[in-house]
Formats: sequence, C-alpha cells, structure tokens
Amino acid sequence: MSKIPAVARRMAHIQPFYVMDLLARARALEAQGRSIIHMEIGEPDFITPAPIIEAGQRALSAGHTHYTPALGLPALRQGIAASYQLDYGIAVEPSRVLVTPGSSGALQLVMSVLINPGDAVLMADPGYPCNRHFVRLVEGIPISVPVGSGTGYQLTADLVGRAWTPQTRAVLVASPSNPTGTLLSAKALREIYQIVKARGGVLIVDEIYQGLIYDGEGCSALSIADDIFVINSFSKFYGMTGWRLGWVVAPPGYVEPMDRLAQNIFLAASTLSQHAALEAFSDEVAAILEERRREYRQRRDYLLPALQSLGFDIPVVPGGAFYLYAGSRRLTPDSFKFAQSLLNEAGVAVTPGRDFGDHKPEQHIRFAYTTCLANLAEGVERIKCFLSQ
Ligand SMILES: Cc1ncc(COP(=O)(O)O)c(C=O)c1O
Repeated sequence: MSKIPAVARRMAHIQPFYVMDLLARARALEAQGRSIIHMEIGEPDFITPAPIIEAGQRALSAGHTHYTPALGLPALRQGIAASYQLDYGIAVEPSRVLVTPGSSGALQLVMSVLINPGDAVLMADPGYPCNRHFVRLVEGIPISVPVGSGTGYQLTADLVGRAWTPQTRAVLVASPSNPTGTLLSAKALREIYQIVKARGGVLIVDEIYQGLIYDGEGCSALSIADDIFVINSFSKFYGMTGWRLGWVVAPPGYVEPMDRLAQNIFLAASTLSQHAALEAFSDEVAAILEERRREYRQRRDYLLPALQSLGFDIPVVPGGAFYLYAGSRRLTPDSFKFAQSLLNEAGVAVTPGRDFGDHKPEQHIRFAYTTCLANLAEGVERIKCFLSQ
C-alpha cells in the first residue's frame, strides 16, 4: 500500500473542482468517439484576438524574455489605468495598478496583505469556489453568506450587516458573478461599501466579467471610492485565460506592501503576456471584443428561455458573464447525479451546483454558454430527449 504523504493541515480545507472530474469523464467519452456538448467550461471558446497574439509574437522575436518590474510593465499599468477613463470616465493613477498572474494572483496578494489568521471574510454562496481557498491559505475564515434570487444572488448591505462579527475584516463581491451572471447595481454596491466602511472593514470587488455585460452599462467600484480593492483580468473579456494575466487596482497605501510581496512570491507576471496585453486596448481589439459580446448576448437570449421551457428555473435574468445558474428542483432532487447521468446518457456536460458552495447546491446547475449557438441548440435538444425518457 502506498503511504499517504503528510501535507499541511490547511490542505484539509482545499477542495477540488468537482467539474474537473466531469470534464475528465467528458474527454474520455470523446476519446471513445462520443460527441459531447460542453456547457461546463468557464472560459471563452474564442481564441485570443489576433492583434494580441501578433503582439506576443513580436515581443518574443524582439527578445522580451526577461523579468519585468514586480508591479508590471509601466506602459501596461498606464494602459489599464487609461481604460477606466475610457470605459467609465474614472481617473485612476497608474501607480495604483498592479499587474498579476491572472486575477487569481491578485486575489492571493490582496488576501495576503489584508487578512490576519482568524480574520473573517464575507462572500456570497453560491460564489466562485476559489475565493474561500484564497482566504484559507492565509489562515483566514471564509464566511459564506447564503444568497438567493430575492437579492439577485448577490450580497446586500443588510446581509453584510447581519453576517458581520468582530472578526470580520473584509467583504468580497463579484459583479457580474460566477456562477450566476448577476450584477450588483451601483446603488447596491455603494450601500455595501458604506456598511463595510462604517464597520471598519475593507471591500474587495471582483470585476473580471465587467466587459461582458448585456443589459445596461457596466459600473466599476472605482467610481465609488479609492479605498476599495478592484480585481480584474485579461482572462475572460479579453479571451486570454491561458496567458495568466490579471490586475488589481489597490488603495494607495497598499501598493508598497503588495509590491514587496509580489517581488517575493511571483517576481513578476509573464513578460510575454504583458507585452501582448499592451495591444488589448487598441481600437482593433475593441471591435473584435464588441462582436464577441454581441454573440454571447445572443447565446444568453437563446439559452435562457430554452432552459426555462425544459423546466429549469431561472428567476433572475443574468445581466453578464457567460453563465446561467438554473434551479433544477422540478427535474431532479440531486443536481450532481443529474449532471453525471446527463453526461453519460445524453453527452451534455454541465456543472452541478456543488462546485459553488453549500447553499442548495443539489438544486442548481450552472450552464456556461461558451460554445456556439448551434451547439447550444443541440445541447438543449439532447436534454429534452433525456428528460422525456
Ligand atoms: C469570478 C472569478 N474570479 C476570478 C477568476 C480567476 O480567473 P483568472 O485567474 O484567470 O483571472 C475566475 C475564473 O473563473 C472567476 O470566475
């Protein structure tokens, strides 16, 4: 028998993504020749826009293969800061922008400089599963606050106030959210900020899906105050998941400790990716991304009523990201088993609620519309047949 290696106690709190098993099973079925419709994948099906790829190729040819400053290429920090002016009319000092290895790197830095052992961080359940692990990694306590359709699957100032304890140090929200695609209004965000501030805490806002908004205008928390941590990434909107590049706009006083920590744990984000991303703010790329945003919107507008007609409950129209978080209670008592059977019998891969928290996970399924309309239609047809058996 092989010996189980001794790992640190904190690892007991780090859970895997259940969807990875499902994805592995889907790939195995594909290897056997089965056709699988993928609605479980949380990344764009589009490849990185060509001008960004070409900029990366040029950077390699020019020999840009050394470290950059830990905070990132000055020109990229400037480009990111300028994008807030362009998109939202907000003036952001480039000195507050830290370029990181994905927004995952940003989340790790933020938690590390904010959270002492035993400090609590409030977050919505369902929510992005890694968040609680970033908190655990620094010996903090993630507090999952159950949210439902009544609040658009988002925290509210009232929920934050009620969940607050003397241990609470920070609140983390995402708008639009993964897995629900729902947004916080500017008003709701401001109210959350005000209560967090009044209690002496810090607000962290994950805006990684901000470019992907289908109804109305986006809104950055930077329009509210400059003592909010705002996380973002080139992964989703810019279609650069594999380049591992994100950023955080930090309150001025935090830049120095975050720089010090980034020097130690990352040295810097990928140089190649940073040079490529310089092109991300060009007009040419903006036109490509706008085209893609329209396509995602069409997909959402097709898939939402199609799933509802099959018996899934989607009480809140998600205004952004590329996810639908569907209630499956009328179709199955166990969304995890349902997802497994759907994959094995109908060849449709979806993510069961279990990946996103403990609040009614067995009653929910996340559908990602990160595949073309024709595939979505085929997926819906297959689910229909599966349900009628
Ligand atoms: C809400 C949210 N935040 C952060 C991330 C991390 O993304 P990345 O590290 O690629 O920027 C993801 C990825 O799925 C996400 O959904």
